Amino acid sequence: MKTEEVMELYRKYVMNTYTRLPISLSRGKGSRVWDLEQREYLDFFPGWGVSCLGHCYPKVTSRIKEQAKRLIHVSNNYYHHLQARLAKKIINLSFPGKVFFCNSGAEANESAFKLARLYGEGKRFEIIAFENSFHGRTLATLSATGQRKYQEGFEPLLPGFVHIPFNDIEAVKRAINEKTVAVIIELIQGEGGVRVADFAFVKELYRLCQEKKILLIVDEVQTGMGRTGKLFCYQHYGVTPDMMTLAKSLGGGLPIGAMVAKEEIADYFKPGMHASTFGGSPLVCKTALAVLEAIERENLLKNCYEMGDYLKGKLKMLKEKFNFIREIRGMGLMLAMELDILGKPIVEECLKRGLLINCTQDKVLRIMPAINVKKKEIDKAVKILEDVLKEQ
Ligand SMILES: Cc1ncc(COP(=O)(O)O)c(C=O)c1O
Repeated sequence: MKTEEVMELYRKYVMNTYTRLPISLSRGKGSRVWDLEQREYLDFFPGWGVSCLGHCYPKVTSRIKEQAKRLIHVSNNYYHHLQARLAKKIINLSFPGKVFFCNSGAEANESAFKLARLYGEGKRFEIIAFENSFHGRTLATLSATGQRKYQEGFEPLLPGFVHIPFNDIEAVKRAINEKTVAVIIELIQGEGGVRVADFAFVKELYRLCQEKKILLIVDEVQTGMGRTGKLFCYQHYGVTPDMMTLAKSLGGGLPIGAMVAKEEIADYFKPGMHASTFGGSPLVCKTALAVLEAIERENLLKNCYEMGDYLKGKLKMLKEKFNFIREIRGMGLMLAMELDILGKPIVEECLKRGLLINCTQDKVLRIMPAINVKKKEIDKAVKILEDVLKEQ
């Protein structure tokens, strides 16, 4: 099949909800992917941040194969040792508590909202979220998302969400009232343009939440699993959330989401109150365990730190050369280049030259390679980007 034929089938049969670039990917290995015509690309935005170990990481692929032969799915009416082991591993690596497994970031946030409402015992239900945030596309997570453009046409939204400016502690203080039960925050607003939360702001937010018994929910769907150089982004800030949501990289490519809550909060859920048919299947749990094992065994947090610094340094050098680059920001390998010009033509030209990156908020190039990316791959990617920037 040729890419043009695939595109024709999409035009006819697939709902038109995405803006897609005109390539059809058919194979991947590490940070490289190939399209149907066998053209090679360096993938510096693998699966919206999903494929943290690059594509088809051998140890993950072999575990998937192994588990697929043994047992793919069982319902949550039964126990399965892999779900138990994964929950224990996540808790050991984060904070004491319990895990609920689902399939995506939106579902993880949905379950956090439901649990927060239970915790509020009918008296407190309001959740403070931030402008420019992104928490998912289901009706509740869309209501939590602080961007009008995603909400238009889907009103009425779910009540109980309040939006305030990011990094503004006075706005948090003003928004808190007797109905407030939780605050949800992305410590780096990914879709919102890779905007990093201020350290002093997060410390004070944490203190306020503790003082007022308000739950601090950290949405680590994009920042989690080593993306920022620590396994979870909150670990940079010296605070511990009451709840954390994970998805994207957790399954290294397979769909799995998780909501983690401190034990006293988690225990508000009783049998029958929340569920997911596919959540925490043996196949995805085995895969997530393999991802975590690889991060530890291969010392990938260190690689992420080092390669993040290296890439950020290179991007800063580009900023010195091109006056339309406004800012380089981000942590670890969650980086962005904010421009004074539109980013879309740059993404399209990079694609033509074999580099996949993303543009968000019109003018922000988002660059998030796999956390096991190599120096020579960064050099090659930066060279392509530089050549494209020269022509702007
Ligand atoms: C911070 C954050 N939260 C939630 C989501 C929603 O995740 P999903 O698309 O898996 O539902 C995303 C997706 O980009 C995200 O970046």
